Amino acid sequence: MFINFWYVAAQSGEITFGAERPVKVRMLGHNFALWRDKSGQVRCISDTCSHRGGALADGRIRGDCVECPYHGWTFSGDGQCVRLPSLGPNAKIPDRTQVDAYPVQEKYGLVHVFLGDLPEAERPPIIDIPEYDNPAWRFIRLGLTWNVDYKRAIENTMDPGHNEFTHPTHGFLGVKPDYYVRDYEVEDRPWGTGSWHHMDTPTLAQRDMNQAAGRTGDKVVQNGAGHFGPHCTWTHIHPSDQAHMHGYAFHTPVDEVTDRICVLFGRSFLADAKYDQTFEARAAFIAEQDRYVLEPLHPKLTPHQNTHEFFVPADKTIARYRDYIRQWEERGWRIDITRLRADRDTVVHAIPSPARRERKGWVLPAVPLLAAGGAAAAAKKDRA
Ligand code: FES
Ligand SMILES: [Fe+2]
Repeated sequence: MFINFWYVAAQSGEITFGAERPVKVRMLGHNFALWRDKSGQVRCISDTCSHRGGALADGRIRGDCVECPYHGWTFSGDGQCVRLPSLGPNAKIPDRTQVDAYPVQEKYGLVHVFLGDLPEAERPPIIDIPEYDNPAWRFIRLGLTWNVDYKRAIENTMDPGHNEFTHPTHGFLGVKPDYYVRDYEVEDRPWGTGSWHHMDTPTLAQRDMNQAAGRTGDKVVQNGAGHFGPHCTWTHIHPSDQAHMHGYAFHTPVDEVTDRICVLFGRSFLADAKYDQTFEARAAFIAEQDRYVLEPLHPKLTPHQNTHEFFVPADKTIARYRDYIRQWEERGWRIDITRLRADRDTVVHAIPSPARRERKGWVLPAVPLLAAGGAAAAAKKDRA
């Protein structure tokens, strides 16, 4: 799991102004409290009260602030303690009581929270979806929670070799004797890699879809897929020149083995809302086929080195994704889950927020991060 990216915390409609209590959301193995203030802005702070560990998301919303359910310390959306009742009125509130507060942006009907301490100018962007506001396109959305390392799910999306066997809807279950994965080029983009490849695909089950896509039978279809950051993917499926389907998946690691996924799936054909249900059912059906193979994978977390798996040319985008992962680790952005697990019962950490660059001396220690080269060192240990 990595700090310093934007993660989807909720659908915009789930955080409503006027609620009695914040919404508690778990991301990167930590809890957060989210609420909407009267200006309409969503606020997000660490769930752990700096006094003695009260869960702020279980407290009450007071004006634009949140009151801890234990002793009533009250925190603003910037994480400042603005009321400390046991000291009485007019008492000076120590700076050290501040809790971490995180930048929030709403885009595509989703609440994105920046979980990290980078200043604004250095933050990776949220993935761009150019078709989202195009009236010729229609999007549906799908929410899933899987018992997987989210990186396994990202790798699956970019894996051209799995369609034939995992998805009977996309391939022929390997019965064609001349089946193979055509060679393809890997193309690096800012914040991720991707590829385009051609694959043999059977005719679609729905007649409407076949007609709209200009399909007459089995076909070679062009597919593109790639990742953006460690946790988002894009998938472009072009059944014909006039029919395009573009999927974007936002993966939020709840913890290292739980992946909460929000998929936005757009189409350039059959754009009438009456077809939404057909596309929703198809997306859910295909996602379930992926979940079926991913949840039992061993080991649960992607290995530190590729030699503990046997890569073939069809796996080259996956190898490239793992190169990117190592680059982000080299920047010191990867959470050290071994230390996190070891301390879990006695130490609560916070994901560092941008304010930690301005002020030292926080009550909660920042989450342990792997020193640059940490996975490389672990891989060396594995080899020994
Ligand atoms: S633990 Fe939050 S006010 Fe005491
Ligand atoms: Fe799949």
